[in-house]
Amino acid sequence: MGPTAARTGATARLTRRSLLLAGCGGLGAAALGLPPARVTAAPPLPVQSAGPPPEPLEVELVARRRSARILPEPAGPTPVVTYGDDFPGPVIRLKKGQRLRAMLVNELDAHTSIHWHGIRLPNAEDGVPFLTQAPVKPGERHLYDFTPPDSGSFFFHTHCNTVEMLGRGLAGILIVEEEGGPAFDADLVCAVKDWQLNKDGSFGTIITDRGAGRAGTFGNTATVNGRIGPVFDVPANGDVRARLYNIDNTRILDLRVEGADAWIIAVDGNPLPPRPLDGWLMGPAMRLDVVFRAPKTAGGTVRLVNVYAPEPRPLASFRAVGEPLRKPAFEPAPLPAAAIPEPELDGAAAMRVDFSATAVAQVFDPAISGDLPLADSLCLSDKTFWAVNQRSWPEDGHQRLPPPIATLERGRSYVFELANLTPHLHPIHIHGHTFLVLDSDKRELPRHHADTVLLEPRERMRVAIRADNPGDWMFHCHIIEHQETGMMGYLRVA
Ligand code: C2O
Ligand code: CU
Repeated sequence: MGPTAARTGATARLTRRSLLLAGCGGLGAAALGLPPARVTAAPPLPVQSAGPPPEPLEVELVARRRSARILPEPAGPTPVVTYGDDFPGPVIRLKKGQRLRAMLVNELDAHTSIHWHGIRLPNAEDGVPFLTQAPVKPGERHLYDFTPPDSGSFFFHTHCNTVEMLGRGLAGILIVEEEGGPAFDADLVCAVKDWQLNKDGSFGTIITDRGAGRAGTFGNTATVNGRIGPVFDVPANGDVRARLYNIDNTRILDLRVEGADAWIIAVDGNPLPPRPLDGWLMGPAMRLDVVFRAPKTAGGTVRLVNVYAPEPRPLASFRAVGEPLRKPAFEPAPLPAAAIPEPELDGAAAMRVDFSATAVAQVFDPAISGDLPLADSLCLSDKTFWAVNQRSWPEDGHQRLPPPIATLERGRSYVFELANLTPHLHPIHIHGHTFLVLDSDKRELPRHHADTVLLEPRERMRVAIRADNPGDWMFHCHIIEHQETGMMGYLRVA
């Protein structure tokens, strides 16, 4: 389980060959039919020679039940639901400007879809059942076809019955390699997820009312790439790029690399000036690209630890192997800047979005807990605890869509004041656009881009977008139990 992610990373060395590839920051945007993107900071490194664009990458993603070894013997294997033999899997790597043609094959006995998290793609490819496409029924296939406009560390996951299906593993990794930029000696995916398992390896209770109405229902088995405490081999004295993903349904992470100086170089795949990895909280769906120098001596290890817990929890380690690479002193170098359309803050429309608990928890039938059968559910739980702007996503919302939270004028810039009116944390995610994070009333934040922002209890955060991508775009909490019990809506860009 999970060797692909480690394999692709530990030996892969980024080369300058990407310089030979065609395309610049505007290529993807042009493919979307959008106006050319304005560059927010330094322009991307100059492309020295333009060749033909890379061939489209074709992949087949077969969603079905598989079994995976998560707990050691004598426990049995775990009945996961995945897109391939690895979790998270597969790891799809594209060049900047390369087109992806991904065929979803549904071998489940429930309908499904794939959402490409963080990608600014055409609305029809966004993978939200009923809102942007018909759900893919058992036995059906569906082709997703798009060219991601941005480089970075993204992922994909089901948007149907997500508590259960993502809880069981229906997620994979999508990496878009940048052009130029610093070279790394290793490029790893470290996807953190807890599983709620019984001693025999079967699933325990993935969602409880008590959890859904509060901070969420936590798993009991912490893994990285589906493995408990994996060890990644990295070249001694090499510069390691670790793409840290929180793909848990629920848990908040504060990751540290113990034994090395680790620097954040991208947030949700979006480059920012390197800053120390020191207290950057990651809610579900959030990613950090970090870089650190591996130990000089073969056998030396550093550890990946989650300190957002009563006791620090070690998750994985990195072990130096081979002759130490000869390198100049370690210095984290910035990635080439993103080319996300810059919101015009002067004259932007201001809009407040409240995230709250419902006044009255509406109680429908009990029993959303337990090892649910894979029936053709409606992608919904049957209780409502949460709301966006005083409105909860209705129980039958996917079939009788509620009106949008707001209709945004295409091309106009907006500043959202995201207000968390609750005592819980909420990672708020927008589809089809990338936030420019401006500020918070509670903490110092650097200006940066993100597709998911973590609101602390009672926090207000201001984020901006240029609403340049037409369609209906989900806007929701990525603690999946919150999403599915009301904290979800959508914005219409028209
Ligand atoms: Cu990763 Cu609508 O979510
Ligand atoms: Cu939430």
